[in-house]
Amino acid sequence: MSTRIRPATTSDREHVRDIHLRAFPDSENRRVAKLAVELLDEQGDPPTISQVAELDGRVVGHIAFSPVKSEDAPDWLGYILAPLAVLPECRNAGIGSALVEHGIELLLEQPADRVFVYGDPAYYGRFGFGAEAAAHFVPPFALEHPFGWQARGLREHGATGRTLRLACVKALCDPALW
Ligand SMILES: CC(C)(COP(=O)(O)OP(=O)(O)OC[C@H]1O[C@@H](n2cnc3c(N)ncnc32)[C@H](O)[C@@H]1OP(=O)(O)O)[C@@H](O)C(=O)NCCC(=O)NCCS
Repeated sequence: MSTRIRPATTSDREHVRDIHLRAFPDSENRRVAKLAVELLDEQGDPPTISQVAELDGRVVGHIAFSPVKSEDAPDWLGYILAPLAVLPECRNAGIGSALVEHGIELLLEQPADRVFVYGDPAYYGRFGFGAEAAAHFVPPFALEHPFGWQARGLREHGATGRTLRLACVKALCDPALW
């Protein structure tokens, strides 16, 4: 079995939608699938990074990293990891980890200070995400589960030291996602 991570294209739209519809519970799967598909078309500056994982040529996982900015510090740049999913029958084989780790490698080539995630600390902690690195960054919307707000630094001396209010891309501007 061989796994390959590659950039997602708009021709992956139906696979990406299906992965999120099947990966997340019914209470949130349509919302997350809509987000994932909208991010494939996001034409921001800098662009959103969407990647898929193929297992023996079949698309089985997807991840996206979209830029976050702040009016408080116009030169500052971060990214947020959302969403991430692997088809249920393909889990626990390292595909989720490969998507996160490959994505972080791509972000290290960008002039970005840190990458955020809003998710389960028990999963994201293994990639170096933690609450402390996110503490001085105010998410764009009120969080239903504040303990899930985490970040991981990408540069040694990137942080401004101030509290920054973050703004996200349009696809993430749905309060129900937060
Ligand atoms: C989270 C997810 C992407 C992981 O994909 P995967 O390909 O199975 O990931 P990996 O094989 O790299 O890692 C599996 C490990 O993560 C653990 N794990 C998965 N979800 C976890 C969670 N929510 N909390 C803690 N650990 C978790 C597994 O138990 C396994 O642990 P092990 O390595 O100690 O055996 C996948 O379970 C998924 O799509 N879940 C539903 C969607 C989701 O929750 N996305 C993240 C939202 S923030």
